Amino acid sequence: MIQPDQYIRSLLRRAPGETVIARGWVKTRRDSKNVHFIQLNDGSSPVDLQIVLEAGAVPPETVASITTGACISAEGELVASPGKGQAVELKARTLCVHGAANPEQYPLQKKKHTLETLREIGHLRPRSNTFGAVFRVRNALAWAIHKFFQERGFVYVHAPLISASDAEGAGQMFQVTTLDIGREPDFTQDFFGQRAYLTVSGQLEAEIFALAFANVYTFGPTFRAENSNTPRHLAEFYMIEPEMAFCDLKDNADLAEAFLKYQVEQILSTSMPDLQFLAKWYEPELLKTLEGLLAGPFERISYTEAIALLQKSGKNFEFPTDWGVDLQSEHERYLTEELFQKPVIVTDYPKEIKAFYMRLNDDGKTVAAMDVLAPRIGEIIGGSQREERYDVLRDRILGHGMTERDYWWYLDLRRFGGVEHAGFGMGFERMLMYLTGMKNIRDVIPFPRTPGNAEF
Ligand code: 4AD
Ligand code: MG
Repeated sequence: MIQPDQYIRSLLRRAPGETVIARGWVKTRRDSKNVHFIQLNDGSSPVDLQIVLEAGAVPPETVASITTGACISAEGELVASPGKGQAVELKARTLCVHGAANPEQYPLQKKKHTLETLREIGHLRPRSNTFGAVFRVRNALAWAIHKFFQERGFVYVHAPLISASDAEGAGQMFQVTTLDIGREPDFTQDFFGQRAYLTVSGQLEAEIFALAFANVYTFGPTFRAENSNTPRHLAEFYMIEPEMAFCDLKDNADLAEAFLKYQVEQILSTSMPDLQFLAKWYEPELLKTLEGLLAGPFERISYTEAIALLQKSGKNFEFPTDWGVDLQSEHERYLTEELFQKPVIVTDYPKEIKAFYMRLNDDGKTVAAMDVLAPRIGEIIGGSQREERYDVLRDRILGHGMTERDYWWYLDLRRFGGVEHAGFGMGFERMLMYLTGMKNIRDVIPFPRTPGNAEF
């Protein structure tokens, strides 16, 4: 096992003169008359460790198998590197090839591959520079998110992945069953004795915990069987869902803004070399937009104001901008990229286009919803103040064609010790797209699940 001080990231920071072992996968090998130069990477750093191997130090067959993709270890002395880009390099005394990678067959040769090609070799793409950077940022972001909530005393709740209720009431669920799918189903005989699904959101369960621990959050996979083959949708994605008792829509929006800013700050401080790599190859404006997000307050407007601004824009949108219709990505882009040029929090949507649990406003037409829209990404957060009034909630459930029986425990929370409460969900991969500049959500999750695709 590689010890913490043996990662290439650590070796690159050590002083010349030390004897060390480096292990990892070969990026390239270059030969000159008397020496071989090997670029080695172990996933810990965007910078490779250069290994210098004298000709004759190992048998010619061994040298021949040190090719791109091979797994090797080398032991020797760190010496000051004459090359630029690294302070030290490893002068190898011994070198061992653990697993060769036949250069005729290894698909990830040193050249620029398209992201589409890399998706087809999902078992090898983590070894590429691009996915090294993306998945290190993903790891850093997960850590930053836990830190944000833990520093504020939120309790981490594991919501179930298998659920009998449709939390969004949108009917986009994958069914879970052990019944023979060839037969007429009798769900009372099914594994759970009722229909069960993969969860679309942990919110309803988070509400249970918020009414016991006050401030909680979930962080786990959620599943949606929406057949939208877009660069922003996955069938399996990670969502972070904070839920707060004693919290209204304004507090909710304040937390969402603080949360997004914290994540950007953290990633700027933990992941700069990876961000610079991604900016160079994928999104030249990346650092500017990330720093821009920190620069000032987000714009906050109501849905009704948003519609008025879209109608006034003089733009020829493909989709209508009448009051009552949902905002489309072209509208979100106009608001965030052209008009305000920063994140925009849109609140108080028509009740018809939002979920049943959102609190009905006094106008009887809108609900206390909020979407946080970001430039390049569109909707990154969706949330609301929850309907805490028993009768109003029951009417909304029935109005959505759902039954009281299916939501009895959710209604019970309004009968026993209920309070004003609110929360939101942030799509982890949407945030990663924002932070990495990647344009397709398939390129920020290790193993994307989309319509027609569940390989690897
Ligand atoms: O707006 P959504 O559907 O909200 C909820 O699920 C609420 N229960 C959240 C809450 O209030 N606790 O989803 C929340 C976020 C979206 O803003 C988006 O970032 C992301 O989840 N999201 C997806 N990300 C990737 N692929 C999909 N198919 C997504 N659907 C939603
Ligand atoms: Mg939404």
